[in-house]
Amino acid sequence: MLIHLFIVWTICIGFVRSTDICGLSSLIHRRLPSIHHSSFTFHLINGEGDAFNVTDTSILGGITVSCTTTSACARGLYTYLTQRAGVDIWWTGSRLDNLPLFLPRVGRTLSGKAIVPYRYYFNQVTFAYTTAFWSFDQWELLLDWLALRGVNLPLAWVGYEHILSEVLREVGLSDDEIYSFLSGPAFLPWNRFGNIQGSWGGRLPARWVEDQFTLQKQIIQRMVELGMTPVLPAFTGFVPPALASHFPDANIAVGSPWVTFPYPTTPVHYIPPSDPLFSTLQKMFISKQKAAFGDISNIYTLDRYNENSPTVTTAELRNISADTFASLRAADPQAIWLMSGWIFSSDRFFWQAENRVQTYLDAIPNDSVIILDFYAEANPQWSVYQNFYGKPWVWCELHDFGGNMGMEGNLQRLTTWPLDALNSSGSSMKGMGLTMEGQEGNEIIYDVVLDQAWSRESLNVSDYGKRWVERRYQNSRLPASVYEAWDILDEVIYNNQNLYTQATIKSILELTPKLDDPMDTNGHHPTFIPYDTNTTIVRSLCRLVQAGVEDRSLLNVPEFNYDLVDISRQLLVNRFVEAWSKLVSTYTSLSTDYNAVAAAAPPLHGIVRDLDTVLATNENFLLANWIRDARSWAGKNETYAAYLEYNARNQITLWGPNGEISDYGSRQWAGLVGDYYLRRWQNFTDYLVETKRDGVKYDSDYVKSRMIIIGQLWDSETFAGPWEVQGKTFEVVQMVLNKYA
Ligand SMILES: *[C@@H]1O[C@H](CO)[C@@H](O)[C@H](O)[C@H]1NC(C)=O
Ligand SMILES: *[C@@H]1O[C@H](CO)[C@@H](O)[C@H](O)[C@H]1NC(C)=O
Ligand SMILES: *[C@@H]1O[C@H](CO)[C@@H](O)[C@H](O)[C@H]1NC(C)=O
Ligand SMILES: *[C@@H]1O[C@H](CO)[C@@H](O)[C@H](O)[C@H]1NC(C)=O
Ligand SMILES: *[C@@H]1O[C@H](CO)[C@@H](O)[C@H](O)[C@H]1NC(C)=O
Ligand SMILES: *[C@@H]1O[C@H](CO)[C@@H](O)[C@H](O)[C@H]1NC(C)=O
Ligand SMILES: *[C@@H]1O[C@H](CO)[C@@H](O)[C@H](O)[C@H]1NC(C)=O
Ligand SMILES: *[C@@H]1O[C@H](CO)[C@@H](O)[C@H](O)[C@H]1NC(C)=O
Repeated sequence: MLIHLFIVWTICIGFVRSTDICGLSSLIHRRLPSIHHSSFTFHLINGEGDAFNVTDTSILGGITVSCTTTSACARGLYTYLTQRAGVDIWWTGSRLDNLPLFLPRVGRTLSGKAIVPYRYYFNQVTFAYTTAFWSFDQWELLLDWLALRGVNLPLAWVGYEHILSEVLREVGLSDDEIYSFLSGPAFLPWNRFGNIQGSWGGRLPARWVEDQFTLQKQIIQRMVELGMTPVLPAFTGFVPPALASHFPDANIAVGSPWVTFPYPTTPVHYIPPSDPLFSTLQKMFISKQKAAFGDISNIYTLDRYNENSPTVTTAELRNISADTFASLRAADPQAIWLMSGWIFSSDRFFWQAENRVQTYLDAIPNDSVIILDFYAEANPQWSVYQNFYGKPWVWCELHDFGGNMGMEGNLQRLTTWPLDALNSSGSSMKGMGLTMEGQEGNEIIYDVVLDQAWSRESLNVSDYGKRWVERRYQNSRLPASVYEAWDILDEVIYNNQNLYTQATIKSILELTPKLDDPMDTNGHHPTFIPYDTNTTIVRSLCRLVQAGVEDRSLLNVPEFNYDLVDISRQLLVNRFVEAWSKLVSTYTSLSTDYNAVAAAAPPLHGIVRDLDTVLATNENFLLANWIRDARSWAGKNETYAAYLEYNARNQITLWGPNGEISDYGSRQWAGLVGDYYLRRWQNFTDYLVETKRDGVKYDSDYVKSRMIIIGQLWDSETFAGPWEVQGKTFEVVQMVLNKYA
């Protein structure tokens, strides 16, 4: 079958199929300069796996991509754009419109073949930490980014509540019973996981549910057009408590409470999969979903026991997975269950005992489940559980807890461990992907994972980094100092061998102030800095600034400015640790008086203010975006806008009505740093001065309770700006460098 772009263009209107290239044609129209809209020809051919060849169409010009799947066609196009034409699309924006007027020739054929059938993307909680308030425009950029990189299995988890509430309404629940169960817009993933229920700060409005469903339809259609198979929601079994009164004969159970959340936000009721009601609701859910989206995917996400203790015996586990799977198959005879392996590592004591993982998995046919090995770059489970006993599984990097923004990555591991797993004896690895909690910075890490999925050979990290930064700064002859800056990052910062700081390195500046060591090296708040700031971050920033001086045109490159701000940000938060240590040693020393404590505070506050100033110069580092996006769903309804803003604020600060997992979702954004974090640190240092002066014993519980009061106050406020960037990046970064290098 040969399809030429110009033919396809006329027949594309009205079609949505994953087996053609209409979606790619639209992508080309969306992103490339109009002069090149008919320069690309795709030949979709029959062939094994996902493979492509890119060649010159003729001596007169034009580029031909021969490819076996839509995803491979997209990847072929991307390979040409990045390897020959030097342009790329970033989270910070598409630069594909800089494609040169005269297209570079392909010359030697560019070939590629995916080494795994699945390229997966998204963590369930990315739908809270990153995309909670996104509009379709924001989705559109990311979906193009994904398609071009060859992702073909994205999670599509927006708007689950619409179909859920239709099902519940149909079986007799009132809107009041349904909506009192649903959590706020910034917290829905944990409601779907059965961790929490209800919404603090007001009830979730029905309008949210309807708007998100509309958005989900757009997202799904685009995913399919771009050759991806969306992983669809399924009925999870977590239900409003009121369901029990409608079905007195059903065996509705109560889960375990989630972390420190208060009743009634936890525990959550669920229908055990052995109860016929579970299968009934599953069938209703999936058939309604098929009616709404079409028959576009048979892969379903469904997770139990996410950070909840299973209160079941090993013998029961087999029935639980068998019944869950049977419910999916009853609703869709081709159903494949996509299961997150996070539970196996987060609750390893339960799962390691009595062969429980094997028991849980054995009840499902080998080809009917896909397991995500969620955190494989740090805590791989495939090797603990013998390739998940033959089930297909996906090697995933779990980057970035809670949307935190520290620079971190491990290029060395990302380019070798997946290959080792693929090559292991009896390997059933079938995919590679990313399960980041939030998507904030460190883009090279994501690119490497998705590029390694198309190479049987380990990517050469040092070479890769050079080509990557040339594309990023849109110049193949960069000043030497750019390469020096990035060599340092790639060799040290992005080569993090420290076992306890994989995924995130959080700054203590974002944590509730305290006197005892917050350099917690484990758990979800790893704050240990596993490198020397002076010889890495400082040097790298110096080199980059030097490059900006040598080649002023770099200052017009958005990604160059982004990186300047990002590295300055890292420098300042690292310096903060030093200022904090000085404050603590002054306070705890018997020989100092309160004046010395008072003198140790301003350097701390100064760093916080300077951080806010540098962040404010770049459009990607503004709290204003998060709040604007949240409020935008409310139109002119001020009550609704205030509710959304509260949700947005609470997630990144207290995370819960009373600081239940405070600071887990912390960010370094202008407007948050210079306001919220500064308020906390000022209050804290005032307290230290007072207690020193008055000879009062330091009370950590008292400090903690003050900080929660400050958080509750901040969360209830309305953002007053600035809404736009302030100041010039290059000038501010030079100031930072002079002051802190
Ligand atoms: C790419 O070219 C090779 C060598 O000619 C050929 O064997 C292969 O089938 C081609 N693949 C595609 C997708 O065109
Ligand atoms: C598992 O299900 C079967 C069939 O319904 C039942 O006979 C058996 O007792 C169940 N096992 C456990 C441990 O509940
Ligand atoms: C699943 O795969 C494993 C490992 O290859 C094999 O031992 C087992 O028999 C398979 N199970 C089924 C039901 O095919
Ligand atoms: C895979 O394993 C085989 C044998 O164990 C080895 O010879 C080969 O080099 C390995 N390939 C890679 C890419 O690691
Ligand atoms: C990576 O490429 C560089 C430059 O092309 C080369 O010097 C180096 O030896 C390569 N590294 C590895 C591990 O192959
Ligand atoms: C890093 O540089 C700062 C500023 O020049 C200096 O005060 C500090 O002692 C240096 N730290 C180390 C570990 O060398
Ligand atoms: C505004 O939104 C709230 C929910 O947040 C809703 O109760 C109210 O009816 C809405 N007002 C208007 C005028 O739509
Ligand atoms: C610190 O916070 C507490 C709790 O909100 C408040 O009572 C106190 O006045 C604050 N102190 C300062 C100096 O802001």
